[in-house]
Amino acid sequence: MKAIRGAITVEKDREEDIKKAVGELLAEIKEKNCLNVDDVISIIFSSTDDLRSFYPAKAAREAGFSACALFSAAEPKIKGSLKKCIRVMLFVETDKKPVHVYLKGAAALRKDLTQKINIALDGPAGSGKSTISKIIAKKLDILCLDTGAMYRACALKCLRENVGFEDENAVKAVIENINLEVKYENGLQRTMLDGNDVSEEIRKPEISMLASTVSAIPCVREKMVELQRKIAQNSSCILDGRDIGTNVLPGAQFKFYLTASAEVRAKRRTEENKLRGYSQPYEEILQEIIKRDEQDKTRKVAPLRCAEDAVIVDSSEMTIDEVASFILNKIQEKI
Ligand code: DC
Repeated sequence: MKAIRGAITVEKDREEDIKKAVGELLAEIKEKNCLNVDDVISIIFSSTDDLRSFYPAKAAREAGFSACALFSAAEPKIKGSLKKCIRVMLFVETDKKPVHVYLKGAAALRKDLTQKINIALDGPAGSGKSTISKIIAKKLDILCLDTGAMYRACALKCLRENVGFEDENAVKAVIENINLEVKYENGLQRTMLDGNDVSEEIRKPEISMLASTVSAIPCVREKMVELQRKIAQNSSCILDGRDIGTNVLPGAQFKFYLTASAEVRAKRRTEENKLRGYSQPYEEILQEIIKRDEQDKTRKVAPLRCAEDAVIVDSSEMTIDEVASFILNKIQEKI
């Protein structure tokens, strides 16, 4: 069983306004959740104390919810709360993820659902960006875009085409026509190169350094940034990378810079690689991380840098859950 929530405001405390609003809200909830009236077990309404002309539950009966249990309650007066607002909770027999619906003035109650948000999460290699952004995306029900995966796919393409990574013109020729797509399966990013899923292949340790090298080439960045902005423009999402807050989305509402000591990051990467079946010694990974930091921070175009308005999170002494809660709290404080 799932609970679907929603709310709507009405202009006047009149029977016809309340009936119309309840009908509109339930119709939208039905449509957004592909609901069958028979799957609804019960509906609970609550309305602010300035709505007395009609019971929302009665309006639901009249709107066709004839078999399920219905209940209406009045909310006490709460200082500063929304005026003339009807809230609803439907208990439904379904496995589908609920889509909550907030209409009219009630949209202000759930800005995280009703307004598009972009979150920039930047930081050096191994700081935990992709793990954290997946958690945040799931909690807020938004997309997450691992922009590093796109540069990794560019590196893989150049490798497959035998292009010398120092030969900017040759790289340009390949990247100009790259067939790179980002898809989502059950909310998880799949990176597609020439129509094939390369999400696993691009994680090979030898791709990391090449991705850093290829990402310093201006034409590569131009092409990738354009793609990233397009994705961010169309949906609420969290983007993790190196230059999101400074270059890709300088106007993002939320910016975080996640970091940790090189030693901690190298340790995490060693364990992560082990789980993926790649055995690379810790010392080697540490040296590579230091070299990659240097390369990413000193390149001419959009180097790795903390945006002035970003919140810095040093995760050296924090668990994944602690970092995720810290970031989520900061976001929720602002929306
Ligand atoms: O986050 P990652 O390790 O998957 O990134 C691989 C490389 O891609 C990284 O060393 C630098 C580059 N990159 C970038 O230049 N800008 C981004 N927004 C993301 C990654």
